[in-house]
Amino acid sequence: MSESTPLLNYHAASFSAGRMDFAWEELSEEARAQAYADWEAGKGLIGGDPRRRPNSHLLPAWGIDRPFFRALALDDARGQNGDRLRALLASDRPAEAEIGFGRGDFLLDRARRHPDTLFLGYETKTKATRLCLQRIERYAIDNLWLSDDDCRFNLPRVIDDGRLDMVHVLFPDPWWKEQHRVKRLFSPPFVDLLAAKLQPGGLLHFKSDVQEYGELVAYLVAQHGAFSAHDPSLAARIGEFAATHREHWCIRHNRPVYTYYFARR
Ligand SMILES: C[S@@+](CC[C@H](N)C(=O)[O-])C[C@H]1O[C@@H](n2cnc3c(N)ncnc32)[C@H](O)[C@@H]1O
Repeated sequence: MSESTPLLNYHAASFSAGRMDFAWEELSEEARAQAYADWEAGKGLIGGDPRRRPNSHLLPAWGIDRPFFRALALDDARGQNGDRLRALLASDRPAEAEIGFGRGDFLLDRARRHPDTLFLGYETKTKATRLCLQRIERYAIDNLWLSDDDCRFNLPRVIDDGRLDMVHVLFPDPWWKEQHRVKRLFSPPFVDLLAAKLQPGGLLHFKSDVQEYGELVAYLVAQHGAFSAHDPSLAARIGEFAATHREHWCIRHNRPVYTYYFARR
């Protein structure tokens, strides 16, 4: 298969056009403190706090000895998952993570284009994760591992600081409603987490079709101080790529996509 051969056929998806009244404002000290308190309390984790789930120290049977990991099940002795992943992470191979890979179009393609890089994919929808595992096997990809943990729970526990060369966050859920905002990925503690896991010179790659979400991300990243301002020329570090499912949808519906590249200082 040539590099340009798509891994998957594109099927029109029933993405909602979405509400487009994404509201955000500069954070007051109180709002910032609340974001950290919520984070500490594990609020907003998709699927809840894994520590409260029964048998969270065990992998699901379908994940044993496949490129699949959960933070609390790394030591499940029924398989080699934890040992294999730890060995890969301990190597000096470059490593990239995608957060919320959905159908996996971007990640599968990128893993095939960069066989010397280790890829980690996070997607809280277990069904989507299992489908992507099948695709990894179908295409004999050996440099891509997946987790259905919330990345906010998994990254601090599994990935050493400074280990990642790139993090891709492509079309994250906007979580429009005020009562759902705690689930929204980008917040001050999440930017802290990205800054910790990216090595100096590493790249944060963000896309959304919600213009205001991009503006919020640029604001939070600028506030943090560990990243340079958005620099479109850093697109060259991504190179050719396969669009995600949502990006295909945007193209078909003539919806603009807002792309940001922030370098870790
Ligand atoms: C709007 S979809 C976009 C999927 C894909 N990136 C695309 O562009 O087609 C966002 C995805 O992120 C996943 N997600 C949301 N929060 C997450 C989190 N905290 N950790 C991992 N995945 C998450 C959701 O399950 C969902 O599949």
